Amino acid sequence: MKRIKILSVVGARPNMMKIAPFVKELSKHRCFKSLVVHTGQHYDTRMSKVFFEDLELSKPGIYLGVGSGSHAVQTACLMERLEKVFLDEKPHLIVVVGDVNSTMAAALTAAKLVIPIAHIESGLRSFDRAMPEEINRIVTDSISEYLFAPSKDAVENLKNEGIPRNKIFLVGNIMIDTLSCFRKKADKSRILKKLKLSPKGYALFTLHRPSNVDSKKNLSNILDAVKKIQEKITVVFPVHLRTEKMIKKFGLEAYLRSMKQVIVTQPYGYLDFMKLLTNSRFVLTDSGGIQEETTVLKIPCITLRDRTERPLTLKEGTNVLVGNNTKKIILAAFSALTDDHRRTRIPALWDGKTAKRIVRVLLKKARF
Ligand code: UD1
Repeated sequence: MKRIKILSVVGARPNMMKIAPFVKELSKHRCFKSLVVHTGQHYDTRMSKVFFEDLELSKPGIYLGVGSGSHAVQTACLMERLEKVFLDEKPHLIVVVGDVNSTMAAALTAAKLVIPIAHIESGLRSFDRAMPEEINRIVTDSISEYLFAPSKDAVENLKNEGIPRNKIFLVGNIMIDTLSCFRKKADKSRILKKLKLSPKGYALFTLHRPSNVDSKKNLSNILDAVKKIQEKITVVFPVHLRTEKMIKKFGLEAYLRSMKQVIVTQPYGYLDFMKLLTNSRFVLTDSGGIQEETTVLKIPCITLRDRTERPLTLKEGTNVLVGNNTKKIILAAFSALTDDHRRTRIPALWDGKTAKRIVRVLLKKARF
């Protein structure tokens, strides 16, 4: 039997929870030969290796060690190294997930070698081209053959960009597959005990977008809000490495340290983070994925951005947008403290079965 060789590319932290259920599903079918390539865009153990362990993913078959750099430098290095792998491995299909630089670089490299591309989490749009991820999404979608969309609005975005309907597949949200699969395991994490926290007794805070952390003014606006919020409730702050670097650069370490009810920690792996998220009273974040996870977990999410590529979380879920405006952040947090009874629902097809639907499409439609 001729086996179909599928090469999945990951690079940064949020890629790992999107690829894990797909790779697991592929392994159930003998007709597929699966290889995972890790670009090394994220290389710190806390941003990478721990996710492979937590999500029970085998070690990547190939590791490229690309590392950090400006967008152009990183993208060029990614493409150069990926091209060699694609030429050596000769896959029938390249699978990319999400919207990080590794996603776009892998898609561009594959397209130039005329290898078909499947994009998981296709069609999300913030309509803000100042976001590096928005460029990555548009480029990747425009050259992919199989566009796996998480929601109807994503399908509409793709149709509006002129992508033929027969390339678009509404399959649901793959990250929720991971959430459903690992919830019980995450519940066993001892992180609350370790940090001496009680369920619903704290808010969780994450921050890493360049628009928020690379500007001293924006970062200070957000920290000013956190200072007020921690007077009412403990705030747990696992600090992203980019953010850690910028806090140091702007000399804001002492200011952060002066907030006695803020627990500053290292970034956590999937299981510890899920335990923290599930038990939090509300979340302050500028992440994309957390907006979706809080919607499914029905936890109020205060998003420190002006726009979102995940509008369903506003319409059907628990999400509100407040940008980096100090007053708006404080108001939203205080309101989440007193009133978290918003009527919300879990969007259609965010049901833990997305990977199955994707593999079904590949088995049925793909001609290799
Ligand atoms: C990247 C993604 C972003 C995603 C985020 C999740 C792009 C354009 N951005 O942003 O969409 O939401 O990951 O975390 O792809 N660093 C380390 N160790 C690491 C990785 C990064 O110290 O293992 C530091 C470096 O100083 C680096 C900086 O963090 O320059 C930024 O890393 P980079 O991968 O460029 O972007 P992120 O901000 O992590």
